[in-house]
Parts: sequence; C-alpha cells; structure tokens
Amino acid sequence: MTPVTPVADEPGTPATAEAVPQDPVEARARHDELARILRDARYRYYVLSDPPMTDAEFDALFRELEALEVAHPSLVTPSSPTQQVGAPIDTAFPPAEHPQPMLSLDNAFSRAELEAWADRVRRALAAAVGAAPDEEQAEPADAPRMRFTCELKIDGVAIDLVYRDGVLARGATRGNGVVGEDVTAQIATLEDIPYRLDVDDPPALLEVRGEIYYPLAAFEAMNEARIERGEAAFMNPRNAASGALRQKDPEITRQRPLSLWCHGLGALEGIDFASHRESLAWLREAGLPTDPQTTVVEQVDEAWDFVERWTSARHDVSYEIDGVVVKVDDLEQRQQLGFTARAPRWAIAYKMPPVEQETTLLAIEVNVGRTGKATPYAVLEPVLVSGTTITYATLHNEIQVRAKDVRVGDRVMVRRAGDVIPEVVGPVLGARPPDAQVWSMPHDCPFCGEPLVRPEGEAHHLCENVDCPNRLLESLSHLAGRGALDIEGLGEQTVELLVAEGLVTDLADVFRLKDRRDELLALEKWGEKRVDNLLAGIEAGRQQTLDRVLVALNIRHLGPTYAKALVRARSSLQAIRDATPEELEAIDGIGPVIASAVHSWFATPRNAELIDELIDLGVTTTADPGEVGPVDDQLAGWTVVVTGTLEGFTRDEAKEALESRGAKVTGSVSKKTSAVVAGADPGSKRDKAEGLGVPVIDESGLLHLLDHGRLPDA
Ligand code: IVH
Repeated sequence: MTPVTPVADEPGTPATAEAVPQDPVEARARHDELARILRDARYRYYVLSDPPMTDAEFDALFRELEALEVAHPSLVTPSSPTQQVGAPIDTAFPPAEHPQPMLSLDNAFSRAELEAWADRVRRALAAAVGAAPDEEQAEPADAPRMRFTCELKIDGVAIDLVYRDGVLARGATRGNGVVGEDVTAQIATLEDIPYRLDVDDPPALLEVRGEIYYPLAAFEAMNEARIERGEAAFMNPRNAASGALRQKDPEITRQRPLSLWCHGLGALEGIDFASHRESLAWLREAGLPTDPQTTVVEQVDEAWDFVERWTSARHDVSYEIDGVVVKVDDLEQRQQLGFTARAPRWAIAYKMPPVEQETTLLAIEVNVGRTGKATPYAVLEPVLVSGTTITYATLHNEIQVRAKDVRVGDRVMVRRAGDVIPEVVGPVLGARPPDAQVWSMPHDCPFCGEPLVRPEGEAHHLCENVDCPNRLLESLSHLAGRGALDIEGLGEQTVELLVAEGLVTDLADVFRLKDRRDELLALEKWGEKRVDNLLAGIEAGRQQTLDRVLVALNIRHLGPTYAKALVRARSSLQAIRDATPEELEAIDGIGPVIASAVHSWFATPRNAELIDELIDLGVTTTADPGEVGPVDDQLAGWTVVVTGTLEGFTRDEAKEALESRGAKVTGSVSKKTSAVVAGADPGSKRDKAEGLGVPVIDESGLLHLLDHGRLPDA
C-alpha cells in the first residue's frame, strides 16, 4: 500500500489519487485491494479505537476508490466502502438502531472544491424552484437565497442521543450508520448531557447528533501521567474519547472528562424548525451544548474565510478539530437537496491538513535533563506537520520506545497538536526495513560517560553524576526560567557562554557574578548595558518567592504546585530541609514520591553545600506571609459556570482558580448555579442565568469573588 498524503502546508492541496488503471482486470484487482484496506481501517477505527493509518491516508485511498468507480461503474456494489458509512457493529454493546440513519459527509480539500459544492447546491436549488440555471452568469438573477452555517469539525466520536418527552432515553455510537452500539449508561455519566431537557413543553421525540471529545489539556495531562507511570500513551484525543466511552463499566467513563458539542438533529416528533441555526439555538436553550464558534454566512467566500481563519487558529480551541463543516442553513432547502447513498448533498466537510504525518526515523538519541533524567528522542527526516517543520520528537523513555516498538530506519507517524511537544505516535509496520533493530537505552551517559541507571519501579533512566556537564547547563537554564527565578538576560545561550568561559560552575555561582563585573565586560560584544541588565535580572531573581526558589533547585518531580504546598506547610527553607520524609508526606497535597524526592535531595551532601551557599548569598529563604497557611476553601458549596472569553484567564485557569478555593465549576446553568461568570461573547448561558435569576458577574466580579469569597455588591 502506498498511501498518498496531502502536503501539510498547503491546505488546498487535494489528495492526488493514483492514476486510475484503464484495464478492467487491473482496476478490479486494485478495487478489491482498496476495499479490503478501507474496510479493515474502518473496523479498526470505529470498533477497536486503533486506526492503522491517518485520516489523510484514509481519505486519499477513499478518493482513489471513488475515482476507480467513476471510471468503472460496474465496480460499484452495495458492499463497496463508498456505499457504506462507519464500521460493522461490534457485539460488545447491545445494538441500537438509530431512528434516522447517521450518514457521513462528503469532503472538500480546497477552495475550488468548496466552491464547486456551493455551485452544485445553487444549481440544484434553482432547478428545484424551476429557475433555469444560467451557465454564463455566476449568480442568476432569480437564484434562491442561500445561507450557510460554518461549524468546526470536531475530531471526536459521533454520538446519537434520543430524548423522549424531554428525557434521555438512549445514547448510541454511529456503528454502521443504521445500527450503533447502545452506550446509554456510559453517556449518562457526562456532565454535558442533561438527563432532562430544560424546556417547558418537550417534544415527543428528539434525536440529537453530536460529537463527544476529550478536551486537549486533559488529554495531554492523562498521557503525561501514563508515560510517567511507564504505561503506553493514547495515540490521540479521539482514541482516548472512544476508549473512555466504550468502557463496560460506566463508572470508569464518569472519571474521564468527556465533553460534547451537538451539531444536528435526526428524527423529530412534536417539534419543527425552519433553519439549522434556529435548531441549534433551541438545543442550547434546552441545555445541550453547541459549539459557540458556529457562524452563519451568506456567501461561499465568507465560508472560505472561516476555513482559513480556523485553519490557522485550530490550536486556539481546547478540543481537536480536523476541518470545517459548511451546511445549508434552510431546512426546506435541505429537503430539496436530499442525500446520496452515504452523505447529504446539503453539507460538505473541508478537511484541514492533518496533525499527523509520516516520516523516517533517522536515529534515536538521548538527552540528559537538569534532574539527571535521560530522555530518548527521535531524530527525524524533517517533515511539515500542520505548518511546522519537525526534526526532533520526544520518545519519553525506554518503556515507551518498546511499547510503541519504534526502530531506527522505520517509517513513523509524527504528531503535533498545538503547543504540545511533537511526538512519535508509532511505526508504519508495513514499511519496516528487514534489519531494523529493537532499541535499548545506552549504558552510559552521552555527556559525561557515567553509567545510566534505572531506579527500581521507575520508568526513566538517570545520570546520577551531579557534575554532568549537560545537567549543569539544563539546570542553570531552568533556574533562570519563567517558572523558577525568571531571570531576564540569562537565556540558554548566555548560560552556555558563562559555563564555557568558566564564570559559572554551579547554581550558586550565578549570584556571585556581581563580583565579576570586569570579567563579564571582557566578554566579546558585552557592554555596560548588557552586564547591568543581567545583574539586575539576577538581583530580582535573588528576591523571588520561596516557592520559586524551591522550583529553581531542580528537585525531581517538584513543580510549582507542589512547591507552593510545601511552603504553605513549612514556611522556611530550613524547615523544609529539616523535615523527615514522613513529615513531608503528611503535608496536604504531597505524596510519597515527592516527599522522598525532596528529602533525598536535601540529604545529598553536594546539595546541602549548595543550600548553605545560596543562604549566604542572600537568596530568599523564608515565605511571604500570604504564602503560608491552609488552602482556603471559602467558596466551598458554590457552583459556578464560566462562559465567554475572559481577558486575564483562559477558561481552564478560571476553573482552576475557582476550584482551588473549593467551588464546583460546571458547564450548564440551572437554578442551583450560584453565579455565572460571563466574559466577552457569553452566548446563551448568560441569558439563561438572567432568566433564572442567577447572578451574572464579569471578570472584575470574578476577581472579587476569588479575593473575598463573595459577590461584589450590586
Ligand atoms: S454534520 C449527515 N457537523 O464528522 C452528517 N458532523 O466526517 C452530518 N462531525 O459523521 C454531520 N463535527 O460525526 C457535522 N460540526 C459537525 C461535525 C461533524 C464533526 C463528524 C460527524 C460526521 C463526521 C463526518
């Protein structure tokens, strides 16, 4: 199989189908082969949550099959993948027939294809109302008025929800489009899915279509935790969502942060809508979430603007998207347009370039970080993935390399989602060179030559040499970094220079630089201003808060959250240093792993010396009064909804700030909601809150709430 992948930096490049064979025998053989590959891929995608290829590869093969069928119509049979939707149903869950079949969408890969679709729609509608489509004119005078809704195409798991008399009766996966799997018990655990619709006069039947997704931040955190424990990571958020949804035990599903966007309707009884946007507004009012990015436009040019805007902004939303869906808004027009065997004629999916690409793994090398952790990483044949060239990608640790079974020489899939560090997802096994060797961690540290050891029960190898030159460079960069002492003027290159010149040989030396002004001034291209800036940055760093000093020490596992917890409980460096592992473990928020890492760090003689030197040099050693004392839970019992865009917080940050004070943060407004925080473009939640008499506050109200534990006076 030779998958054809669209070029990543050109969103408009269609997947070029292989040349279609003219010879009928050859065509049939290729058709059989493609049908088999695509059926298997669908089964593995939908049923096993383990796709064997990227979406782009699937699309390319699918298009080749379509081209074959156009050239040789006799190849079209009801069992061809072009005539079917989804996958054969899996028997693990009871079958659930959808009130109305769940179809697929036709794809567009370029502006021209999107415009061609809109043109087909316009002509078909003109024909339906009896207006003769004019070949010459782009816009016939009597063309029917059209409106399109532009929606993000959520890369999640398709779901069908059935509400009878306003009560959730069933939830099912798509399955083969006609019959899916009954996952009612699983979806009922999602906070986003109301058991009862929030409407006065519920319809007898309402079939809602949507996409369940795993929010990106939660996905990354989960994968990080899995990798830290030495477990194999999930390939992407969609697989994680599918896996979480298809748990036999719904309690496991409940523990996963699955979310939902609704994007359409199926069968209806006792309710009717004139337009798609009207139906979305109704769903929102009824308590079913719809994506706030959805926009209504009148021209296909505007739809293309939406596509371009979101192709560059795809990482600005907290869920993974893989395209844009453009839909005819008017439901009567939709009826006139109708369906093909597998997809509606009234909608088209523009596919964005994939966040995964294939390339060759040239080598596996090892980096040694500031805490001594040895991390293997992939050296790749440079490849463009959603707009960025990737040459290196992390492989985390030896267990991950083995779990993924990636070998030097392999063709591998590389993934980059947003700001996340690029990652090797796995090998393309069909393309493995026969002599590819299983990889092992080298015996010795590539920087200092000391043996690399893997402590019992840990997934990572370590270089235990505290003088390892690479550890020094990395730990100095970390000390100066944003999360630690935030020293302006002490970036990576400056660190390298100062170490190379022998001006800095350990962390404490940074604070001795003020006595070495002349030597700094003697450095090539260093003038008064640069030296003053650096020294001022170091002086500010010296006065940073105690939790930042702790983070700057490069203690394994000790990030800002744990450092804050330590400082809260023990207000000085000396008190933290004197604590036994048991005393550390007794601190709220500190577990045995951190307790032991902190204790053994302070117990190491070299580190004890360093601490004494830092104290002599005047680095902060005691906490500010505000940093000490128990975590406040002054918002315990509060239920808060955050909606719209805030300026000083992301949605997640606002949530975290509220939760850290004991509040519960939920997605939908009800009578029980204590307050709604509404940023810019708050959507219907604000209206709903006002309708229910729930207090609505803005960002300054949120700050007041966080600071004082109560709403600002009206
Ligand atoms: S509308 C008749 N809108 O993409 C099908 N689908 O590749 C109407 N999807 O089956 C589907 N986001 O599971 C629609 N905003 C959106 C979507 C969306 C994701 C999924 C859906 C669909 C698949 C087609």
